[in-house]
Amino acid sequence: MKAEILKPYGNAVMYQMNQFEMRTDRLIIREYRRTDIDDFLRVVRQPEIYDTTCGIPRNYTRQKAVEWFRYIKSSCRQMKSYEFGMFLKNGGAYIGNVGLINVSMTHNHADISYYIDTAMRGQGLTTEAAKEMLRLGFGYFGFEKISGLCMSINPASRRIMEKIGMKFEGTMRSEILKDGIYYDIDRLSILRSEYFTNSNVESA
Ligand SMILES: CC(C)(COP(=O)(O)OP(=O)(O)OC[C@H]1O[C@@H](n2cnc3c(N)ncnc32)[C@H](O)[C@@H]1OP(=O)(O)O)[C@@H](O)C(=O)NCCC(=O)NCCS
Repeated sequence: MKAEILKPYGNAVMYQMNQFEMRTDRLIIREYRRTDIDDFLRVVRQPEIYDTTCGIPRNYTRQKAVEWFRYIKSSCRQMKSYEFGMFLKNGGAYIGNVGLINVSMTHNHADISYYIDTAMRGQGLTTEAAKEMLRLGFGYFGFEKISGLCMSINPASRRIMEKIGMKFEGTMRSEILKDGIYYDIDRLSILRSEYFTNSNVESA
């Protein structure tokens, strides 16, 4: 089926009946394809990703991945959440996941989420992808607010949120129970008005 262009957006072009694809300096951020499943499993199975996330099972089976690929495809079409693969522009390797999830059309709000291959950390790549999610969320979808949640024991995730201009809202105490331990969750957010007026967003 021939794709119909919905709306131009920055470096990306959105297609109806086709796929979201965005390009940053170093990344291609796009919807998953069936052929990504082995690369996806290689990264999502890393224990370091399990340790500081809430919805990812410790033993991520191939069947679970197949189901998740189906789920994200349909939730994207239903405008409930948008999860993308991060790929290096240089060479095309799959390196992680980024997305806007828990979309509320009622409140015009979404949460950001991300994780990256342990081998690719500390290079600002997730921050680059997260900035692109703000551009998508505010520039394309027109959200009023984008939030981020991280376990308080995860300073790298909180730092990403700070670098993209989010402000600390507070800590939800003993919010999640993971492997028998209760963890606090920090919540940060950025409003549409802050995104478009805060000159520090790009340079923080
Ligand atoms: C959190 C995560 C996405 C960071 O990815 P990354 O690509 O290394 O992030 P970036 O390089 O863009 O930025 C990380 C920032 O955190 C800082 N940081 C890293 N470890 C830190 C620590 N222990 N304490 C404080 N800051 C830390 C880095 O120095 C960098 O900040 P800087 O640019 O000011 O120096 C990655 O570690 C990950 O995938 N973790 C597992 C999954 C996860 O926790 N996802 C988030 C769930 S909320």
